[in-house]
Amino acid sequence: MAYNFSQMNSFFFFLLFVFCFNFSDAQKVPAMYVFGDSLVDVGNNNYLKISLAKADFRHNGIDFPGGTPTGRFSNGKNAADFIAEKVGFVASPPPYLSLVSKSSNSDAFPITGVSFASGGAGIFDGTDELFKQSIPLNRQVVHYTTVYDDLVQQLGSSAAQVHLSKSLFTVVIGSNDMFEFFKSDSDLAKRTTPQQYVDSMVLALKRVLKRMHYFGARKYVITGIGAVGCCPSQRNQTTEECNEEANTWSVKYNEGLKTMLQGLKSELKGMEYSYVDVYKVFARFIETPSTYGFTEVKSACCGLGNLKAQIPCVPISTYCFNRRNHVFWDLYHPTEAAARIFVDTVFYGTQPFAIPMNVNQLITA
Ligand SMILES: *[C@@H]1O[C@H](CO)[C@@H](O)[C@H](O)[C@H]1NC(C)=O
Repeated sequence: MAYNFSQMNSFFFFLLFVFCFNFSDAQKVPAMYVFGDSLVDVGNNNYLKISLAKADFRHNGIDFPGGTPTGRFSNGKNAADFIAEKVGFVASPPPYLSLVSKSSNSDAFPITGVSFASGGAGIFDGTDELFKQSIPLNRQVVHYTTVYDDLVQQLGSSAAQVHLSKSLFTVVIGSNDMFEFFKSDSDLAKRTTPQQYVDSMVLALKRVLKRMHYFGARKYVITGIGAVGCCPSQRNQTTEECNEEANTWSVKYNEGLKTMLQGLKSELKGMEYSYVDVYKVFARFIETPSTYGFTEVKSACCGLGNLKAQIPCVPISTYCFNRRNHVFWDLYHPTEAAARIFVDTVFYGTQPFAIPMNVNQLITA
């Protein structure tokens, strides 16, 4: 069968149209930079020798493409992957330490972004003492400045500023600082009131966001703290009820964070942000699980002991058959299913889940 020229031509234009459409649709921002803790770590901690906050062993990754552990604290993908996918990337940007540990360090950093997130990290440098070793937020920003310098080298200063001003800066942090405060033998709780503590968390984060702005950041995706008192590790081992004190102070922190962001926007030129309320989304999962396809909101999927929260998800632990109906993968972290629904909710979502705009609106802002 022969096509005439005109048929060929329209077919060619059809292909061109499909290609161009997909291309422009594929990548909505020039780059994504990810900062934070184990909720978004995609493998930085694999490069830390003595850290206890590691997930580079089974049963982590059991539902990840290839079924292998990657360092993600999840049965599959995490929130960083899903945000990246929605923005049009194939996956989360690569871990910073995977790039700098390559033998040939002549390679420039990928122009599409880098992930600095590290399991166990907190807003405060001391928070990671709980896990022996992690990359605290302040250190993550130091790593970012290296990438920034490289970008200026690659593109020149003004093109780098334009590039960064359109890029997403995702910051998922604070849960570990909260865990540190509410752990049973906490010295912090003796030295400071919870209100002082959450206020100082907000203030410390504000300084970090200003520093990022100084190094070109304009569009921030900032998450609050989730309902940490309801994660399997924090539930009362006897009654299985949520730790209401931890939840109350997570909400107070989130309120302080929202107020701070509002003020910061008027302070920092060109700043736009989407505040993402993890707490409200996860509270919905726990209150009306069936709406989201969940049947198990208390117990972890992988671990040992009551609520599978007495021993973490390590190779000797058992894991549930149905990962789709569990909110929690292990004693601290959500399943891939919960992370996916969370990102769906905040990417195109409305208030109170995303304030003052959702992530998709932030991209075009
Ligand atoms: C768990 O609940 C029991 C029964 O209400 C209570 O006696 C105990 O103090 C609680 N434990 C914690 C850690 O809150």
